[in-house]
Amino acid sequence: MSDLNLELEVNGRKVRRRTGTHQRLLDFLRDDLNLTGTKEGCGAGECGTCSVFVDGKLVKSCLMPAAKAQGTKIETIEGLAGAGDLTPMQKAFYKTGASQCGYCIPGMVMAATSALRENPDADIEEIKERLGGNICRCTGYSKIFEAVEIARDVIAGTRPAAALEADAVDASYIGNNVRRLDAPSKVSGRLRYAGDMVMPGMLHMQVLRSPHPHALIKAIDTSAAEALPGVACVITAADVPGEDGFGVFVHDQPIMARGKVRYVGEAVAAVAADDVVTAARALSLIKVDYEELPAVFDAEEAMQAGAPVVHDYAQDNLVKHIPIRKGDVEAGFAEADLIVEQTYSTQQVEHAYLEPEAGLAYVDHDDVVTVVSPSQNITHHRHMLAKIIDRPINKVRFIMSPVGGGFGGKEDMIYQGMLALAAMKTGQPVRLVFTREESIISTAKRHPARITYKMGLKRDGRITAVSFRMISDGGAYGLSTEGVMRKAAILSCGPYDIPNVQIDTYGIYTNNTPSGAFRTFGAMQAQFATESHMDICAEKLGLDPFAFRRINMMRDGAVTHTRQALDSVSMGEVLDAAERSSGWEAGAPTMRGPQRADLAGAGTRPPCTLGARVRKDSAANRQEVA
Ligand code: FES
Ligand code: FES
Repeated sequence: MSDLNLELEVNGRKVRRRTGTHQRLLDFLRDDLNLTGTKEGCGAGECGTCSVFVDGKLVKSCLMPAAKAQGTKIETIEGLAGAGDLTPMQKAFYKTGASQCGYCIPGMVMAATSALRENPDADIEEIKERLGGNICRCTGYSKIFEAVEIARDVIAGTRPAAALEADAVDASYIGNNVRRLDAPSKVSGRLRYAGDMVMPGMLHMQVLRSPHPHALIKAIDTSAAEALPGVACVITAADVPGEDGFGVFVHDQPIMARGKVRYVGEAVAAVAADDVVTAARALSLIKVDYEELPAVFDAEEAMQAGAPVVHDYAQDNLVKHIPIRKGDVEAGFAEADLIVEQTYSTQQVEHAYLEPEAGLAYVDHDDVVTVVSPSQNITHHRHMLAKIIDRPINKVRFIMSPVGGGFGGKEDMIYQGMLALAAMKTGQPVRLVFTREESIISTAKRHPARITYKMGLKRDGRITAVSFRMISDGGAYGLSTEGVMRKAAILSCGPYDIPNVQIDTYGIYTNNTPSGAFRTFGAMQAQFATESHMDICAEKLGLDPFAFRRINMMRDGAVTHTRQALDSVSMGEVLDAAERSSGWEAGAPTMRGPQRADLAGAGTRPPCTLGARVRKDSAANRQEVA
C-alpha cells in the first residue's frame, strides 16, 4: 500500500514519508502525521472541517490527493500559533464562546484566518462570504462572526489587545460571560474526539450493511474474509454471547442482524483488520444468502391487517400507543358551533451533526471491556452491553468522548456492541469511524408523523373539544419511539386549557431507517400541528390569532390534560412579548392591512442572508449560489 514518496513541509517542518497512493491529504495529515486537529465531517468538500493552507491557499484537504501536495508548504490548525499559545483569531473565538461541540471550529478558525490574511479590512459581509464554505451545526454563526471582527480589529490595532481578554466576572456566573473550560483545546485543534484517538496495536473496523429493507438471512459465509491477510476477525450475530438486544425503551435491536434484516443499511457483519482498506476489502468477500420479504414503508399501511410484519413479537407492527382522555370529547364536539378538522404531516429529518459516529474499544489489564464513544447515554449503554456480552457490570466500562454534535442522535448504542465484541475476540483495541454516508444510512432520524387534528369551537373563540391522532413512523427498531410518543401526547394540546380531550399517539414499525430521539423528542411534530391548527381556526372564526390564543391559554392553577396542576403559567407574558417583538399587525389573518408590519417592518429582524453571497456594493449587485 505504501508506494508514494512524499516530501513536503508541514507547519514549518520538513517531512518525508512513504504513504499510500489512495491517500487524501486529509488522511496523510491525520493518519501518517497524527495531526488530528484537521477533522473529517463530510469527506465531500461540503463542510469545511478539513480546511488547511496549501502554499498559503485555503484548501479542503478531503478533496486533495496527498500526491498533489508533493513539494508544497502545508499549514494546519496546529501550526497557527506557537506551542502553548493561541493566535489573536483563536483567542477571539475563545473570548466570544464561538465553540460549542467544537468539531467545526478548527476548520472555521482556518477559514477566518484565511479571510483576514487575504483582506485584513474585510467587512462583516465579506467575512460571511469567505466563511461560506464552512458549516457549524451548533454554535450559531453570530459568535463566530463576532470573533472574526474582534480579531480583525485587534490585528489592525483599532481595538486594544485587551479586547481578547476574558470579561470580568463578579460573584455570580449567572448573567455573565463565562469562558468555556475546553475552548482552548477546541480552537487549537488539540481536543481529541473518538475518531482522533489511537492506541498501539489498534485494529480498524468496517461494517457490512444490508442492501435489502426486509429479508431473511439464510446463511453468512465469512471464511474468505477471515482468510484475507491483515484481517484479525469477522463478527456476526453468532458471536454474541449474551442477550442480544438494545434500544432505549424496548431492547428489540440486535447489535448485528440476527436471522433477518429490517432496513437498508442495517449491520450484518463487521471486520476488524490492520487497516481500513483491508477491512473494506474483506467485506466484499463475505457472502450473505438473503431471501427477500415483502416490506412496508408507510406507517398507516403498516397498521392495516395483512401488512408485512416487521417483528414477530408485534404482529400489528405497533411499537407504542399512548392514549390520553379528559372529559367527554363527544359532548364537547356536540356543543361546538364549528368543527375544524385537518391533517398535518412532518418529514423524516437527519441530525447531521458534524462529527460522524466513531468509537474505540479495548479490553484493559483487568479484563474490563472498555468502550470510548460520543454516547449521549453511557450508563444505559453500559447496562445493555453487560447483558449483550454476558459480563458482570463491573467488567464493562463506557467512557464518553467529546460529542461533536449529537442533538439526540447519539443516544442509541448502534455500533458500540460491535466494537466491544471485536476487541474481546482479538484482544486488541478496535476503532470504527463512520463515513458520512454510513451515518446517514444507518442512524436514527426524527420521526415522520401524520397528525389528524379535530377541534370543536364556540363562536366566541372558546375551544370545546380536541381530538388528536398522531401516526408516527418508528422505522425498523424501537429505539426512543415510546418516549417520543409519550412526549408528543403530553404536548399535543399545546399550552391551552381544553375541557374535553382525546389523544392517541402511535409509534409504528416499518422497514424504514429507525426513528429516534431528535431535539424536542416529539414536541416539534405535535406543536407544529397544534399551532398551525390554531391559526387556521382563528381565521375561520375571524379572530386575531393572538386574541384566540389568549381566550384559550392556560392560566395560574390550570390542570393539564395529563392532570398536572400548574401553580403559575407565564403564557400571557410570552404572547405579549411575541406580539410586541414581532411587530404584529392586529386582526384576523383574513383582515390584514396593506402594510405587513410584522414581516420585515421597522424594528423587525432582517432576513438572514448567510450563504446567499450577495454583495450590495458590487457594480452588478452580483449574486452567486454558495
Ligand atoms: S469539506 Fe472536507 S471533510 Fe467536509
Ligand atoms: S461548534 Fe460548530 S459544529 Fe459544533
